Amino acid sequence: MVETLNITINKNPNSKLDQIDFDNIQFGKIYTDHLFVAEFKNGEWDNFQINPYDDLRISPASPSIHYGISIFEGLKAYKNDKGEVLVFRPDKNLERMNISAERMCMPLIPEQLYYEALDTLLGIDSDWVPSQVGSSLYVRPFLFSDDDFIGIRPSQDFRFMIITCPVGAYYSKPVKVNIEDHFVRAIEGGSGFCKTGCNYGPAIYPAKLAQEKGYDQLIWTDGKDHKYIEESGTMNIMFIMDGKLVTPALGDTILNGITRDSVLTLARDWGVEVEERKIEVDEVVTAAKEGRIQEAFGAGTAATIAQIELIGHNGTDYKLPAVEDREFSHKVLKELDDIKYGRIEDKFGWIHKV
Ligand code: COI
Repeated sequence: MVETLNITINKNPNSKLDQIDFDNIQFGKIYTDHLFVAEFKNGEWDNFQINPYDDLRISPASPSIHYGISIFEGLKAYKNDKGEVLVFRPDKNLERMNISAERMCMPLIPEQLYYEALDTLLGIDSDWVPSQVGSSLYVRPFLFSDDDFIGIRPSQDFRFMIITCPVGAYYSKPVKVNIEDHFVRAIEGGSGFCKTGCNYGPAIYPAKLAQEKGYDQLIWTDGKDHKYIEESGTMNIMFIMDGKLVTPALGDTILNGITRDSVLTLARDWGVEVEERKIEVDEVVTAAKEGRIQEAFGAGTAATIAQIELIGHNGTDYKLPAVEDREFSHKVLKELDDIKYGRIEDKFGWIHKV
């Protein structure tokens, strides 16, 4: 690629910024004034633009609409007390996006394109990065097929875009989760490790059924025997069981979460015993019955650290210890926040300053 991309900037003449109540932001409802877009045509990235946030024009025959040829990422930007914009571990999102791109026969996003797009967009919309505690700017890069061909084949034309939205908490209270033993999110050899729309759309129906029974989310189990715990909808799952931090080992059915990796890194740094391994459903149910689960929580970019207060299995609910008494998950959330908001030293090199 060239030294710097030639990004055309079309400023939004009608900013919505002064209409936003930053103290009451619902996740994913409000978008900032601008978006980034680039095109991939004839084997090359071109036509880099920052434009006012607006609807898209897309071919009705696009394979992104028909076949889910679409991948995405989620990362967050924070404001420190000097007003600087800090992005948490964007390198990991690029790495994962390119893993998803390969699986879906899409072009890789070059590092230069990703960082110049991110920095230019966040620079222009920096006033949108909330400074309220617990709030951040959610950054959603996505890549989709821009072909106008309805046949099944690797696409040729693509669009890479970034949109951003100020957000508060994804889950506003501790969640109740049900262990799913019929529906399947991912199977070995499938695309469960990718962040593609194909993994999320079909998960909505089983989650809706669980919600009708009073749960907030599911815990997915393996697609073969429903014997092992995999991940929760929208986040990885972690337990403090018998004093150890236990989480399912990664594989091609589990998303390699960046919050998951950050929690494990901090835990190991603090000398907490960590086990990444297969976890049987029976093990969790037995441990819950015997009071050997001290903490359970989800870890994800949108969800951050989401406390799990109750686990359902086969019609029985297991109430877990009171959220206020949980030591590890509160400590890890505070440490992550302190790093993200630039309050403490970034000793793992996780912060990218815009
Ligand atoms: C994220 O945590 O960034 C996600 O993509 C989850 C999504 C369901 C909001």
